[in-house]
Amino acid sequence: MGNVIAFWSPRHGQAGNSSNMVAAAAVLAMDYVSHTLAAHTHYGISMVENAFLRNQRATENRSASYSAQGIDSLDTLARSKQLTPSVIKDYAVPVFNGSLDVLAGTQKPEEDLFLKMHEVTGSICQAARSAYDLTLIDVNSGCRNVLTNAVLESADMVVVSLSQNLSLLREFFEHPPAFLEGKKYIIVLGQYDAGSRLTLGNIRRLFRTRIPIFAVPHNSSYMDACNEHKVVEFFLKRKHINAVQPDYAFMQEIRRLARGIYEGLAVDPNMYAKEA
Ligand SMILES: Nc1ncnc2c1ncn2[C@@H]1O[C@H](COP(=O)(O)OP(=O)(O)OP(=O)(O)O)[C@@H](O)[C@H]1O
Ligand SMILES: [Mg+2]
Repeated sequence: MGNVIAFWSPRHGQAGNSSNMVAAAAVLAMDYVSHTLAAHTHYGISMVENAFLRNQRATENRSASYSAQGIDSLDTLARSKQLTPSVIKDYAVPVFNGSLDVLAGTQKPEEDLFLKMHEVTGSICQAARSAYDLTLIDVNSGCRNVLTNAVLESADMVVVSLSQNLSLLREFFEHPPAFLEGKKYIIVLGQYDAGSRLTLGNIRRLFRTRIPIFAVPHNSSYMDACNEHKVVEFFLKRKHINAVQPDYAFMQEIRRLARGIYEGLAVDPNMYAKEA
């Protein structure tokens, strides 16, 4: 049985939550034999789709036949109790040699219609666990969205994206959100700048936390790859990177995060590691 992992951030736009998930999904697909699904619950333009899918569907082109595609089809099937694990795979797009599938987001004409998916989120997650080893879901930030909350509740683990913004860190560590109580979670600092005084080590010390913390360093080439739908190529080019090459530190950090996701689930990453 696989695991569902929600990528969530307490604040909008600050922590590179979607970019963190995209990088993790790509490296999990590249370095591990596990089968991963990348999905999102955004209404509108999505970094996850944009990063992996070249022919992104136009968001203004919402159609009456929305139920025939992506996440909307899972919603429809779950309501009629016809959602089986093999069916999920039929509605996702393979993007990484059979290791990674991407589930397109909603095309529903109104956001309220889409939010009703919270009623069947539990059964969709359960079917995804049977179909994939890892299901990563990029959800909206904060706790005011019913669909976000439903995914967080169903998830086996949460990756919390934070930034090197001291007030955001204080708020999180001093008042951790209630839904994390009793939940497996890890932290990732997005857009990480190793030159800041708020390094990973200093943040651990400052907040005396035992929760594992990882980083996705700020990287201009990675940003370009996300914008140009070339994330798969970006990571494949750097698969055998060596220490003298410029993006080595970036790759090391993403690889630490990928291992950290397995370890957070109490799964030995070596069991799934591909032969180099
Ligand atoms: N590690 C990174 N290196 C370079 N650019 C990044 C990185 N992470 C994020 N960005 C850039 O920052 C912007 C916001 O990132 P992203 O969409 O991932 O944030 P988010 O937290 O998901 O935002 P939202 O709350 O709007 O969903 C994007 O333009 C993205 O390209
Ligand atoms: Mg996002």
